[in-house]
Parts: sequence; C-alpha cells; structure tokens
Amino acid sequence: MKLTESQVEQFHLEGYLMLPNLFDEEEIGVLQRASDTVYALQREEVFRESDGKTARTAFAAHQYNEAFRRLGRHPRLIEPVEQLLDGQVYMHQYKVNAKAAFTGDVWQWHQDYGTWSRDDHMPEARAMNIALYVNDAVEFNGPLWMIPRSHRHGVFEAGHDLQTTSYPLWTLDKATITRLVDEGGIVSAHGKAGSVLMFYSTLVHCSPPNLSPWPRTVVYLSLCHVDNHIRRFKRPEWIAHRDFAPIESLPDDCLRQLALESVESAA
Ligand code: SIN
Ligand code: MN
Repeated sequence: MKLTESQVEQFHLEGYLMLPNLFDEEEIGVLQRASDTVYALQREEVFRESDGKTARTAFAAHQYNEAFRRLGRHPRLIEPVEQLLDGQVYMHQYKVNAKAAFTGDVWQWHQDYGTWSRDDHMPEARAMNIALYVNDAVEFNGPLWMIPRSHRHGVFEAGHDLQTTSYPLWTLDKATITRLVDEGGIVSAHGKAGSVLMFYSTLVHCSPPNLSPWPRTVVYLSLCHVDNHIRRFKRPEWIAHRDFAPIESLPDDCLRQLALESVESAA
C-alpha cells in the first residue's frame, strides 16, 4: 500500500497521519478476540495497571499470538512505514495497549524517540509508531492526544517518571507542554475501529484515563529502519527487541484467512 503525495506532505508537516477504516469488521473481529486472549494470559509481557489486575499492555504479542504475529507483518502497516523511512524496517517494539473501561490509566506527555534514544541507544529518529484501533477511540475512552508540529524540535529534556503509573516513562515538564500547546494546540486522535494512525517518533503525545464504560484497545507497531537498530540492550528483549532482520510482509488477506481457518476448524 502506497501513501499519496498529499498524505506524505501532511505527515511531514503536522507530524501525524490518520488513515480511516483501513481494516474491515472481519479483520477487527479477529483482533478483538486475540486481545481478549492475550490479556487473559499470565505472562510477564502482559503488564498490569497499578491495581495489579487490569491489563495495561501486552508487549511482544506477535511472538505468542497468531493474529498479532500476522498483524506484525501486515502489508497495510509495513509498506507505508517503509515508504516514509525509505527502506526496510524491523520491529523495535510491539504492544497491544488496553485502556480498560473505567480503570485504564493515563500515558503522560512524552516522545517515543526520547525513550528509544535514552534507554536503548537508538542512533537516530528513523523509527516510528503505526497504530491500529481495535475499538472506536472516542472523546471519552482515553484517546491519544497529540501536539501537531511538535515533532520538529528534536528531543526535549525529560524526567524519568517511575511513580505516576505502573510503567516507567520519560516525560516532559509542564512548561514545555504549555509552550508547545500555545504554538500547536492539541488534537484528540478519534477514529473508528479499523483506523490507523502513524506519527513521528518525536511527536509529543499522551492519553487521559478511561472513565467510560467503553474499552479502548490500540495495537502499536514501533518500526525502525534496519540500519538504525538499537545499540544498548538494557531493557528486556520483549520490550526492546534484538532481532534486526527486515520484516517480510505477508499477503494482504492474511487476517481474513485466519478468520476463515478458525471457522473451518470449528465446523
Ligand atoms: C504510548 O504513547 O506509547 C501509548 C499511549 C496510549 O496507548 O494511549
Ligand atoms: Mn508513545
């Protein structure tokens, strides 16, 4: 799948690009079932909220779930990133982020590359997230907030926040956020299930808690140009991967085939 010239332009100008309804209902159904399955697993990769119970994120789900394995090699996600990063990519990180109904906690203001650079010694910001919405992301269930054009300033100073949530994060201070929001405002990245959001790894973003009765699950593929692989192996392998082999895409119907196979095996 190729992005158009105007989509590429919008991505570079604003720092993000929304691709509405890229995956259909059948494909999303497969991924919703897969999310329920992985969140029920007792594995170290399935990180819990501060209550110790609610699933917050399932890291590396492409390594232990077939639907997520296929999604991690899906041409509708891999090809646009190869186009923007100008070459083959490997999987730096893979996460299925739950923002559970009523209890899903915040992600503080941050830049992804800030973490990849400080913790993993990724040489350059030649990496980015592409996110697939597994549920509708609406005003009330903790959608991503982004500061348009904040990607153009490089990496900001950050503090390592070990307190606010169960997950440590390099976060930006209030004065920096105020200044950036004065310039660029805030966009709330709403979208229907099946929509895809791509954004610069230096774009400043966060997400509020989910106090609604609606879950908000998003799958993030953090893809990095193969020449730009990480140099430090401080974090566990299932958080910052060490397999730098280029991803080979699967056929476009790989998720639909899985739906078909499970219907046949149930018959
Ligand atoms: C992230 O920025 O890494 C996650 C944010 C979210 O899923 O709300
Ligand atoms: Mn992030």
